[in-house]
Amino acid sequence: MLIQEYFKTRTDLLEKALDSYLSPATEYPHELHESMRYSVFSGGKRLRPILFFGTYEMLIGRKNINRLERLLPAACALELVHTASLIHDDLPSVDNSHERRGMPSNHIKFGTPTAILAGDALITKAIEILTELKNKTIAIQCIRIITKAMSTRGMIGGQAVDILSAKKKININTLRYIHLKKTGALLQAAVEMACVIHDAEENVAITLGNFALNIGLAYQIVDDILDEVGSFEVLGKEPGEDSRNNKATYPALIGLEKAKKTAEKLLRDSYNLIKNMKNNDVLIEYVNMIKDRLP
Ligand code: IPE
Ligand code: IPE
Ligand code: MG
Ligand code: MG
Ligand code: MG
Repeated sequence: MLIQEYFKTRTDLLEKALDSYLSPATEYPHELHESMRYSVFSGGKRLRPILFFGTYEMLIGRKNINRLERLLPAACALELVHTASLIHDDLPSVDNSHERRGMPSNHIKFGTPTAILAGDALITKAIEILTELKNKTIAIQCIRIITKAMSTRGMIGGQAVDILSAKKKININTLRYIHLKKTGALLQAAVEMACVIHDAEENVAITLGNFALNIGLAYQIVDDILDEVGSFEVLGKEPGEDSRNNKATYPALIGLEKAKKTAEKLLRDSYNLIKNMKNNDVLIEYVNMIKDRLP
């Protein structure tokens, strides 16, 4: 199967499910529901659900879209938490980003109070959806995985240190921490959920968890690089925001060239972690896709 077809069919499946889980904008409170839908359906790449599907289908040893139906609560939860993190990340007191995915950010369109609540509501929706997984033991495990990934030891912790590190001189270990947590944690949750659902062996789960953290770190370094030298088309917003905000980024700390080399090395390491696994084509394509984003 062509990889483009894989991404398209899985994305379509996910988006139909997201549509069915989210309240319609006609439901009261209208503006809040409209604002949640606005951000969920504004053209995200769906990278976390695709990583989840790709990992699961690798583990079961075949691509079978019918087998993904019952996993949709987990895939949707990942995308909803991710969308919430972006809405909050764009807020005036965080990154103050006016654009996201080539459109006005949620708070520009709906105002800050609604944007804050839309993010909160998407997170609570994610947990509610996870309770719908048929196997309740797995549901609880998935809730544990995603809440840990969001927590002060995960994405929220990374975002906290990211915010506190602006305009400061920080060292590379702190920056690595920020990126692993703010971006790596949710990617790691995607593969952890796939492993728990398939009941993967511990050594496989550990290797895949490390794979996800590596690509998460690489992805965020590439994002930092694109923020300096990328285009509006790739970024979905005007570049140069990180330097305007005096953000701690890889290019700011070690320079563009070294940042690129670091990302490339992490992607090679990621590839090496999975290269001997059977049916790894989607995950390999995933690594290539991140590499292709490098300018
Ligand atoms: C954006 O994530 C935030 C970062 C982790 C750099 P994505 O690049 O996955 O965003 P969308 O969902 O495709 O817009
Ligand atoms: C965002 O990092 C990470 C999270 C939202 C958790 P960035 O602030 O670099 O992402 P963009 O550049 O706004 O997409
Ligand atoms: Mg940010
Ligand atoms: Mg940002
Ligand atoms: Mg960025």
